Amino acid sequence: MCGIVGYAGRNAAAPVLIESLKKLEYRGYDSAGITVLGSGIETYKAVGKIINLESEIPKKLGGTVGIGHTRWATHGRPNTENAHPHNSGVNPEKISIVHNGIIENYMALKERLIGEGYQFKSETDTEVIAHLLHKHIYGKPDGKEAQCELLVGLREALKEIEGSYALGIISADEQGKLLLARKDSPLVIGLGKGENFAASDVTAFLNHTRDVIFVDDFETAVLSPSGVEIFDREGNLKEKKIEKIEWDFEAAEKAGYEHFMLKEIHEQVTAIHDTLAGKVSELEGAIYLNELNLSEDEIRKLSRVQILACGTSWHAGLLGKYLFEQLAGIHCDIDICSEYRYRNPVMNEGTLAIAITQSGETADTLAAVREIMSYNCPTLAITNVVGSTITREANSVLYTRAGPEIGVAATKTFSTQITLIYLLAVKFALVRGKLSHDYVKSFITEIRKVPGEIQQILNQKEAIKECAENFAHAKSYFFLGRHLNYPIALEGALKLKEISYVHAEGFAAGELKHGPIALLDEGTPVVAIATRGQTYEKMLSNIKEVKARDAVVIAVADSKDTEIGKYADIVLRVPQSDELLAPLLSIVVLQLLSYYTALARNCSIDKPRNLAKSVTVE
Ligand code: G6P
Repeated sequence: MCGIVGYAGRNAAAPVLIESLKKLEYRGYDSAGITVLGSGIETYKAVGKIINLESEIPKKLGGTVGIGHTRWATHGRPNTENAHPHNSGVNPEKISIVHNGIIENYMALKERLIGEGYQFKSETDTEVIAHLLHKHIYGKPDGKEAQCELLVGLREALKEIEGSYALGIISADEQGKLLLARKDSPLVIGLGKGENFAASDVTAFLNHTRDVIFVDDFETAVLSPSGVEIFDREGNLKEKKIEKIEWDFEAAEKAGYEHFMLKEIHEQVTAIHDTLAGKVSELEGAIYLNELNLSEDEIRKLSRVQILACGTSWHAGLLGKYLFEQLAGIHCDIDICSEYRYRNPVMNEGTLAIAITQSGETADTLAAVREIMSYNCPTLAITNVVGSTITREANSVLYTRAGPEIGVAATKTFSTQITLIYLLAVKFALVRGKLSHDYVKSFITEIRKVPGEIQQILNQKEAIKECAENFAHAKSYFFLGRHLNYPIALEGALKLKEISYVHAEGFAAGELKHGPIALLDEGTPVVAIATRGQTYEKMLSNIKEVKARDAVVIAVADSKDTEIGKYADIVLRVPQSDELLAPLLSIVVLQLLSYYTALARNCSIDKPRNLAKSVTVE
């Protein structure tokens, strides 16, 4: 998740762009940059916060049209070369662009453009768009004469791009104009008097205007100081509705949600989509994990996976244990990092260590990774933060593409971690001959449906809210799950504890009778994750055990399950899905249950007491 901004007006563009970027800093802050149209393209970039960029920019920089970007790295480390804007053209540069999104076919396009003489300065997917656009307009890398208008060239270039984008573009040969394009990434235009604005979200320009036009997928726009024109995919001019934004800045930063946590729960739809982008091919039944420094032969020879993680990431790892063993037939151990370091682990030949950490900075996880690397064990890190410490130490890194997570309780980083773990386990199973290409094709079809299925759950969140409010004052909550739903039960209990301060425990449902059942009494809410699958019947038996103790059963079940209602007091539904992928849906219900419980109890949801987003002490 990055932030883009644009300005076309009569005032100096640079201060407006900097002010807008500061408002978007919450979307990403590892580097930033702007381009203004002065006598030509003038670009300034800096690593770190926007104030670093501000100090690079000359005080009296001219130019009244410009674009800006604050980056949350996805392709390439946070450094000046990878910071946006990205430019194309040789002496002088002609085109400058900023981008939020992911270009899935960038490697193929990059190879083609390199073959045609384009020189790349960065590792980003975005630079491909700059050169591709240049090629459509100027024909060759050092072309000086435009052969078509910027807008025409843009429309042609977009036909070749697969992926998501919100783009801001300016050209040295088209003074006074700012172009925009959008597909699957947010983009909004602000309408001023003698000036117009563009940004990833309205917070960027709320100080200047509250009249906005939301750009829709496949639309392009041309902004000048005096007007805004919006075109459809075929290039026809469109009439768009002007909307008035009533939110204050704080509400706008959270896109109108009351808390970052709720916003981030909703963002799972795009976060999972983005994490899958470019990694799966339905047609070929293939999973591409190019960042993994392991050959197919090495994957075949693996005898063991050792997962290392803490907190919520440990729950993602526990699901991984089930998946690696069940699907890929690889023995898998999982340890809590603070324990692993002190238990003198026995190291087997052929072990792959997988460290899961959203922040990439958890002290115990880093220490455990250093410990296992001392045995010359190859390590793979799964993290959300490009350039974090773990990425500099592990041999391979796979990034979740969740964007910055502000709420302390992990939500979208958890679901994207498990998305990557599914891909890894299925990939290993395919390479090791445990799953067929046909199976993998159908798996890819199913996992691609998950974002839409999560949206269906979000559309019915009122039922979850009502349930949470009914039990908001319970003394204790229990969460039960079996098999793949067991880690989800643990994570559901952790979420509730973290943000609502209600005592909550997660159990493997079969363990209930070995102790925890003694804690049940009349009215204790017990959440039973009972989606259809190999342990469904056993879950029904556990639900009956719970009912016999007068506890209240809140079941999480498939939308088409007509049986569960006979046993459970309340049923919270998830769309009917593949048994393997149901955890990705059930967790969203449990996140919402925790959120609404904390809301009803008036807790500090985004910053719960005593907790930190990243624990950098041992
Ligand atoms: C803290 C956070 C948790 C997180 C855990 C591990 O306790 O509050 O949400 O799960 O650290 O963090 P990591 O960054 O390693 O995933």
